[in-house]
Amino acid sequence: MNKTVNIDIQNKDILEKGQFENQKLDFQIVALTSDDIQTMLIFQALILDALEPGEEGYFLEKDESFFKKHFNSGSKAIGVVTNGHLIGQALIVHPNAQNPKTGMTDMDLPEPVESISVIQGVGAHPESRGLKVGDKLIKAWLDVAANDNRHNALAETDQHNHYSWQLFVKNGVDIVSEGLDQSDGTKLYNHHKVLKL
Ligand SMILES: CC(C)(COP(=O)(O)OP(=O)(O)OC[C@H]1O[C@@H](n2cnc3c(N)ncnc32)[C@H](O)[C@@H]1OP(=O)(O)O)[C@@H](O)C(=O)NCCC(=O)NCCS
Repeated sequence: MNKTVNIDIQNKDILEKGQFENQKLDFQIVALTSDDIQTMLIFQALILDALEPGEEGYFLEKDESFFKKHFNSGSKAIGVVTNGHLIGQALIVHPNAQNPKTGMTDMDLPEPVESISVIQGVGAHPESRGLKVGDKLIKAWLDVAANDNRHNALAETDQHNHYSWQLFVKNGVDIVSEGLDQSDGTKLYNHHKVLKL
């Protein structure tokens, strides 16, 4: 890979270990924490750099204070790591009464808010195509949500981003409605999977 983002996983909570299909390459899925904010910002920049013109709505940039608030309110993040390099990351929002924001833009939400888990900021290293990094992130999110007793797994995707919304649908996180991001006119799909706990 030309651009790599290093991460030390020695003291990290490893959620899953495995080997990429058809490759003799180990991967780990780790819980990312507030200690990883700088690393996550670097990784985010790499994802944003790789977007083509017109794809800006696929991945919304988040600043350092957003990441800090995210972790301070008890929400989570996961990363896919291989050979000490971060090759995928996602934020997992677990709202509660004190921090009820879900990050969903335009969806009628199931209740209570403590039943909801939202994945956002899903990104796979642009040179990792074919390794199913996006798929691994979504599967790991559904496990994290179920472990935290969150049975309503929600996500939103840009309708033009077919790689992204197909990935959710393939994992049973179905399109249940359409939405609109009024700030930039992006047409959204709202996804929902009810998890058996
Ligand atoms: C959407 C995204 C996370 C998918 O990650 P991924 O690791 O490629 O996903 P997977 O390999 O698990 O599955 C997606 C499929 O679409 C293909 N694909 C994804 N992005 C692609 C691209 N830009 N060009 C060609 N094929 C692509 C993958 O090769 C894979 O195909 P396969 O099932 O035939 O193997 C990744 O493309 C990405 O980071 N995009 C930029 C940010 C973004 O759009 N995020 C979505 C936020 S909801």
